[in-house]
Amino acid sequence: MNKEQGEKENETFDPGHVPDLPPGKEERFEPGAMTQGDQGARKEGAGDERAYSRENFEPNELSNPLPKWYSAMALGFVIWGGGYFYFQGNVPADAGDHRSVLATMAGPADGATVYAGNCVACHQATGLGLAGAFPPLAGSGWVLGEPDLLAQILLHGIQGEIEVMGNVYNGVMPAFPQLSDAELAAVQNHVRNEWGNEAAEVDDAFYAEQRERFPPDRGPWQGGAELREIVAEPLAVGGS
Ligand code: HEC
Repeated sequence: MNKEQGEKENETFDPGHVPDLPPGKEERFEPGAMTQGDQGARKEGAGDERAYSRENFEPNELSNPLPKWYSAMALGFVIWGGGYFYFQGNVPADAGDHRSVLATMAGPADGATVYAGNCVACHQATGLGLAGAFPPLAGSGWVLGEPDLLAQILLHGIQGEIEVMGNVYNGVMPAFPQLSDAELAAVQNHVRNEWGNEAAEVDDAFYAEQRERFPPDRGPWQGGAELREIVAEPLAVGGS
């Protein structure tokens, strides 16, 4: 093996060796894209320099703040969503809709269902109320008398003394103006024809009229006395 052959072999096994680019070919190397390490390596060795220059630019992790347009877009969506919720009339039933469940369902209102949803907690399923707290509806002269009485109690609520079947109650009953005319008529007919009660039925139009009789914000009736005076006398059943 002479000297020339030896050199040739060395060249073949040099792991740092990178062949020259073919004439006319540009190097894929941009000095601006070099990291400091690249530059250091470039100074150190001639072979390394070309090897580095052929490598693709290694991406650096930079700290980029959230782009302004992205924040603006996100804010825009939030405002749009809020506005959509706020200005749309027909929101889903579980999202702040204050109509009763029945009003959102098709089909005629069912008095028993309206009663179960709005009255049963106080006046009880038996219609007997709770002694000392909630007066009975079964057999009550207020329920069985002029239909206007029950309608006005439901539309405006009642507080103060009221005598029902010989007992005096002094509580507060909320008004139910949020129920539709159909629901109110249905619950009225239910209450007046349940637990042995028997009285004439009313329809939606009756409730539409009853709503017109007094301003919606007139406040609750002040006990039985005001009802007697302004609306009607209760039927004298069991001492009313
Ligand atoms: C939060 C409890 C409560 C709810 C709910 C309630 N009431 Fe009453 N109700 C009362 C109280 C208390 C009185 C007596 C008020 C008073 O003392 O002035 C009363 C009085 C009445 C009266 C007149 C007295 C009588 O017993 O005849 C009627 C009629 C009546 N309620 C019907 C209803 C109907 C129908 C519903 C459902 C749509 C209903 N109430 C829902 C508590 C309630």
